[in-house]
Amino acid sequence: MHKLFINPKNQKGHINPEIQGHFSEHLGRCIYEGIYVGENSDIPNTNGMRNDVVEALKEMKIPVLRWPGGCFADEYHWRDGIGAKESRKKMINTHWGGVVEDNSFGTHEFMELCRQLGCKTYINGNVGSGTVQEMSEWVEYMTFEGVSPMADLRKANGHEEAWTVDYFGVGNENWGCGGNMTPEYYGNLYRRYQTYVRNYSKDKSIYKVCCGANSDDYEWTDGVMKTCFRKANEDQHGFMDGLSLHYYTHPEGWEEKGSALNFDEKAWYKTLKKTMYIEGMIEHHAAIMDQYDKAHKVGIIVDEWGTWFKCEPGTNPGFLYQQNTMRDALVAGINLNIFNKHCDRVKMANIAQMVNVLQAVILTEGRKMILTPTYHVFNMYKYHQDAELLDSYIETEEIGVDKEYMVPNLNESVSYGKDGKIHITLANLSVKDAYEIEGNLADTAVDSVCGTILTGAMDAHNTFENPDAVHAEAFEGCKVVDNKLVFTIPACSVLHLEVSVK
Ligand code: AHR
Repeated sequence: MHKLFINPKNQKGHINPEIQGHFSEHLGRCIYEGIYVGENSDIPNTNGMRNDVVEALKEMKIPVLRWPGGCFADEYHWRDGIGAKESRKKMINTHWGGVVEDNSFGTHEFMELCRQLGCKTYINGNVGSGTVQEMSEWVEYMTFEGVSPMADLRKANGHEEAWTVDYFGVGNENWGCGGNMTPEYYGNLYRRYQTYVRNYSKDKSIYKVCCGANSDDYEWTDGVMKTCFRKANEDQHGFMDGLSLHYYTHPEGWEEKGSALNFDEKAWYKTLKKTMYIEGMIEHHAAIMDQYDKAHKVGIIVDEWGTWFKCEPGTNPGFLYQQNTMRDALVAGINLNIFNKHCDRVKMANIAQMVNVLQAVILTEGRKMILTPTYHVFNMYKYHQDAELLDSYIETEEIGVDKEYMVPNLNESVSYGKDGKIHITLANLSVKDAYEIEGNLADTAVDSVCGTILTGAMDAHNTFENPDAVHAEAFEGCKVVDNKLVFTIPACSVLHLEVSVK
């Protein structure tokens, strides 16, 4: 019996909905085919956006979308993607797959997509190969209401009103594909570029994201914070609101990566262990940030995370298309629990990537669409959005097949939702064992409980032939006994319990 302790009277912080954010890049079939098919497609669409994909994303309450990259962002010149589609430049996407990019999806289309999704906008600007003027004019084009060359151009291109840019990334991976810079060099460029990311709206300021580290590169965090952190006070805005962090789980290392579908128990535990490293990374980066940002004003923005396996055999290696199993579901469940538990610092996280790329929530093939196990996890966790994190602890034991890659058998987070209910999300990391759990809610009286579960064999996945092999189901196995929640969590599963209190 494993005991779960929840203290509903101890609220630990607010869970930003953006923690369940997404990322879409001009990469493979993410934007083109996966989201945007064009107005003339026979795939049902609204202004070019696939209706099936938009509906599924709305159902899981997508809170924010990052675009246009990724590495693509530091090669993207936004003017190529505005105006009449016939006259937009065609070019080769040199970074991803060497295919023709016709720029038919640009700023107007991205804003239309976010309008349809009802989500916030996160634009990533180009520092690596773009100019300060280009970045500054993009912000003006998107957000300036009055009379100006860029606002006039936007109007001439058919959009009278300014859009809202909620988040703006000043460069992407500038330690690598975004220019191979040193932290000090980037830090100085950041100071300069961000100056011209102007706030044209009186009501809402743009949240500026500075490029942070690759995984556990703590020197980058220290160098960047030292160079470009400025304290925000009443009359001075700080230079940055957030610092990004990228961390991918590739069980067999960057070169090998490992297969998305054909793996053994050893690879299962290795993957989950490597996923859990992110918790230490968040704490370590936060501790470095605290040296400069004593008031904890700068958020950690994990704007790329997820599994990165070998691409599916027979597909373009530059498209990063991979299948998605129960192992990915566990990776998602664990990551989202960790982000919740660190919601004091993690203000946004964006899984890479939304459709057809890496750990996608949706896969498409022509007219067909499937929801992956990862989708179902996001759909089950949506109740944590905008909720208050509750103090919780679960008793665990170490499991695994290889001494080096032992993991705790259970992983949890708990929140008090906007709906007045307590939401528990729990992952069982064991491939074989179910566990009995007793949930204690201190002196809070439980009224009733219901739940949803996602479970299956470790490599269970959905295909276009069998799209519903892995799906979430009602969980009726939780009883209330003496005000305690008593249930058994099956092996290899992610569970959501919704507790109504008196
Ligand atoms: O998500 C794929 C790529 O991974 C992104 O373009 C880049 O930022 C990261 O290296």
